[in-house]
Amino acid sequence: MTVSELPLMVVMGATGTQCRGMLLPLLQCERYRIRALTRDTASDSVSRTKSWLESVLPAGALERLEWMACDIMSLESLTRAFNGAHYIYAMTRDSYPPRDAPYPDHTEQYHTGLRILEAALATSTLKMLFWSVLQDAGKATDGKLRVLTFTEKADVFREMLKRGLKVVGVAPGWFMQNLLPVPGCHENPVQKAKDGNGYEHRLPYSPDLPFRVTDPGHDIGTMLLWAIPQADSLNHKIVPVGSRLMSTREICQAVGEDVKPVQIGREEALKFMDPVDLEMMDMLGYDKWEEKGFQEWQLVEPPKEVTDRYSDPVKWHQDHRKEILGM
Ligand SMILES: NC(=O)c1ccc[n+]([C@@H]2O[C@H](COP(=O)([O-])OP(=O)(O)OC[C@H]3O[C@@H](n4cnc5c(N)ncnc54)[C@H](OP(=O)(O)O)[C@@H]3O)[C@@H](O)[C@H]2O)c1
Repeated sequence: MTVSELPLMVVMGATGTQCRGMLLPLLQCERYRIRALTRDTASDSVSRTKSWLESVLPAGALERLEWMACDIMSLESLTRAFNGAHYIYAMTRDSYPPRDAPYPDHTEQYHTGLRILEAALATSTLKMLFWSVLQDAGKATDGKLRVLTFTEKADVFREMLKRGLKVVGVAPGWFMQNLLPVPGCHENPVQKAKDGNGYEHRLPYSPDLPFRVTDPGHDIGTMLLWAIPQADSLNHKIVPVGSRLMSTREICQAVGEDVKPVQIGREEALKFMDPVDLEMMDMLGYDKWEEKGFQEWQLVEPPKEVTDRYSDPVKWHQDHRKEILGM
């Protein structure tokens, strides 16, 4: 089969934390050609992603990868980027309401999701769209919280089902990469302790609450290789993705014995955290919030031979100790 005859998988946000890593397993398997979307094909992040893939893939694998410029704010741009796609991995970036404005029903994220839906419905070749979804926070918390970054993704999934789109919800857990600093965006989440004794991970919730952790690109890419050949049987269902449940205390221990979780108050947290993120952390304290937030839909866990190939979170945190601690 020539490269142009292979099924086409479109990957949105291909330079970002969630999707960059999935380019590797998808290209390694040789069964798909990939169209990676970015705002600017000449950006530093595209160059870095290309160099990384060149360094880990055999010669010739990159012939199955094309980069295309796409702006998720434009329906026309999305429709062009989806043209000829057999599979699409679709995601939105978070958007936060202004701190001093009334809490809206939806933000940019929801409207981007609806544009993705329209563009996908116009893609006649499409066999399945994989939608990066999260729990409906209202259902998860018996109507107490809204957590827009979560609920909007569930609202879009509901709309996709209503409009008859062939879609599988992909539900990643807490990204392991959240502990890494993002230059120009946020500092190391783990800081030197004020008393000079080791390091502190300061967060406004109990360090013993367990949640699902995910190495997003790697784990989702691994899951997709299992899901795509049987995509029809997963239609309108949700596949959770993540290695296993871990608490912040266990995560800190994995980075090193000198890293301690410290629970801080809400006012202090709001100095460096959006109110929506604080709500998300409140949600972690609700019993069975993960299942309740998806109660309308059927969840399908991939088989053990797939989940065994996910990143081991203890090893991941050990391997990234220096970056996490800013050494
Ligand atoms: N952090 C977590 O624990 C977690 C867990 C589950 C789900 N999520 C969800 O993951 C999403 C964030 O993903 P991420 O961490 O991969 O984000 P990220 O690292 O900030 O990357 C954002 C990506 O979106 C692309 N992008 C931004 N604006 C765009 C535009 N106008 N048009 C086209 N592409 C655009 C960027 O591409 P270019 O810069 O190359 O254009 C980049 O590839 C959020 O919706 C969040 O709720 C996060």
